[in-house]
Amino acid sequence: MTEPKSGASRREFLKATGQVAAASALAGVAIPSVHAGEDNTIGVALIGCGGRGTGAAANALAAKGGPLKLVAMADVFKDRLDGSYDAIQKEHGDKVDVADDRKFVGFDAYKNAMDCLKAGDIAILATPPAFRWVQFTRAIEKGLHTFMEKPVTVDGPTTRRMIALGEDAAKKNLKVGVGLMCRHCDARGELFKRIQDGQIGDIVLLRAYRQTGPVGSALVEPKPDDISELMYQIKRFHGFLWASGGCYSDFLIHNIDECCWMKDAWPTKAKGTGARTYRENFIDQNFDTYSVEYSFDDGAKMLLEGRNIDGCSQEFASYVHGTKGSAVISSSSHTPARCKIYKGQNMTKKDVVWSAPQPEANPYQLEWDHLVAAIRDDKPYNEVRRGAEASLVTSMGRMAAHTGQLVTFDDMLNCPHEFAPEVDKLVVDGPAPLRVNPSTGHYPWPQPGILTDREF
Ligand SMILES: NC(=O)c1ccc[n+]([C@@H]2O[C@H](COP(=O)([O-])OP(=O)(O)OC[C@H]3O[C@@H](n4cnc5c(N)ncnc54)[C@H](O)[C@@H]3O)[C@@H](O)[C@H]2O)c1
Repeated sequence: MTEPKSGASRREFLKATGQVAAASALAGVAIPSVHAGEDNTIGVALIGCGGRGTGAAANALAAKGGPLKLVAMADVFKDRLDGSYDAIQKEHGDKVDVADDRKFVGFDAYKNAMDCLKAGDIAILATPPAFRWVQFTRAIEKGLHTFMEKPVTVDGPTTRRMIALGEDAAKKNLKVGVGLMCRHCDARGELFKRIQDGQIGDIVLLRAYRQTGPVGSALVEPKPDDISELMYQIKRFHGFLWASGGCYSDFLIHNIDECCWMKDAWPTKAKGTGARTYRENFIDQNFDTYSVEYSFDDGAKMLLEGRNIDGCSQEFASYVHGTKGSAVISSSSHTPARCKIYKGQNMTKKDVVWSAPQPEANPYQLEWDHLVAAIRDDKPYNEVRRGAEASLVTSMGRMAAHTGQLVTFDDMLNCPHEFAPEVDKLVVDGPAPLRVNPSTGHYPWPQPGILTDREF
């Protein structure tokens, strides 16, 4: 695997963001295609058997273009694996063939699960993102197609590594889907086309909101005695920047990505603020609120508001404003998007000029239909660069808020701070990448204005 030079510039990495998966530069070159096995069944291994992994495996087994069969599972917690197995088995029993000796637990479990696959099968990577590059490296070595959840990276060094890995996968003609499923949504796709056709004029402003109560494991209390520090941090991964990029990266990436899709560009810089508000006994690394302004090359802005506090008004939606009109990109959570175009900027009922037809197909299913179709038809399919750039742009806003500095795309891409450089060497009884500071009793927090070139 080759890493780009550390002085890599945004221009080298920046690419327009179309709806379709980016085609590999080597598409069609004489590389042996890695197809499904002789009996036409594509084997699937689920690595990371939590909520989303279980959902992704179910989407895989329900995908058009089957048959697909779940043949191996891996997790670091046995109870998570068992619960996931039961749920998938209940829904898709005839497509599940995971004997006990193909259920693996531990940090090497992903290797064992991949060893149960043949070249051309699919590995699902749905652990916290810290492990993505490690497991993707192995999947490429084994000639496996991959579906990996978002975010795919949490910092600069792993983004550079992930982009290089994506190129390695393309060279081997492996198909890779990234779980930014909104990119596969028909309604948003139609909105994108209409914006390209000039229906709202030139985009001057995008607005994204994910203002909810506390979600997932973003709020972390001190570790109880019955679990090791490392396993605690993995279990509560939204609380730790090394594991997830924190609540900012994990929760806000979809809204950031769908806005950038509509703009058909990545922003070049970000500035932002954030604060810890009601911390009680919570000692994780997150802020409770984030407010970030992203700027694009042409001066257009994207405003992002993130909040994890109960009792406040709630909104989970994205909007775009152009010189001739405005539009809803998503109206509540991820699906249905209920995209709409309005004349003017008021977004009132009487000004609607187009609404996405209802009901909408589920994008979590569509992303799988598209990946499996690409495998069956041997079409170029590689969402890695786009997923890595979306992850990087997300990290750029997070770093701006956490440091109190203006952060550019190039700054983030070339930032040397790798949050967990030894993540490929973790062992169950070993140390965690982060430690509680004994003098403060909490994990290292971002300190805007004091820590300015790293987040903790
Ligand atoms: N696309 C979406 O809308 C969406 C929705 C939810 C979650 N996600 C993403 O999916 C990923 C998982 O999130 P989740 O909500 O399912 O979390 P989760 O905690 O429910 O599941 C994660 C699973 O991975 C396991 N795990 C952790 N480290 C591992 C390792 N090294 N090897 C094997 N297994 C390991 C955990 O034990 C757990 O079972 C995250 O990246 C998250 O952002 C995406």
